[in-house]
Amino acid sequence: MDVKEFAALLPQATEQLPRGAFLTAGGETWNPMTIGWAQFGVVWSRPVVTVMVRKSRYTDSLMEQTDVFTVSIPRAKEMSRELAFCGSRSGRDVNKEQEAKLSRLAPRAGGAEGVAGCGVVFECRIAQKQLLDLSTLDPDFRAKYYGSNQALADGDPHVLYVGEVLAAYEV
Ligand SMILES: Cc1cc2nc3c(=O)[nH]c(=O)nc-3n(C[C@H](O)[C@H](O)[C@H](O)COP(=O)(O)O)c2cc1C
Repeated sequence: MDVKEFAALLPQATEQLPRGAFLTAGGETWNPMTIGWAQFGVVWSRPVVTVMVRKSRYTDSLMEQTDVFTVSIPRAKEMSRELAFCGSRSGRDVNKEQEAKLSRLAPRAGGAEGVAGCGVVFECRIAQKQLLDLSTLDPDFRAKYYGSNQALADGDPHVLYVGEVLAAYEV
């Protein structure tokens, strides 16, 4: 994937991200999860997108069973109802595709199926995964985001999935 073409999509992606984007893992089960944190950059001379998924999410179990994922970015101020649903309900309990009335977007480059209706799509291959080491994290961030109020007693650390971008495009 050409770095310049990738970089041209980043203003849209980073502006929307705090309001939410959809992460979908490859594999049999299609379960969009809302994400608000991600890293976009160049590593190993390749464009990469790194997503952060807490161990407690159903999506993490799906990410463990695949080597691809897709990040679908809604157009500004669109799909807020769907983002709220996929960011508060778990695929362990509900079928998000049916309940949130979402449709799948066929991948173009071997990534996971994305979310139809979004404006920008990043198809990725997992190049590395790593559990966040809380012992080396800034103490203020650790206290704020990984305290005893989280879903797991260990602070429910994120797994960082570094995805080599296979294709990124506007829909
Ligand atoms: C705006 C927003 C951003 C979120 N960002 C993340 C994130 O980056 N990583 C994460 O693990 N959970 C994040 N969440 C929480 C998950 O989307 C939520 O727990 C979801 O219900 C998990 O679904 P699952 O169990 O089907 O995987 C976010 C939620 C919202 C509303």
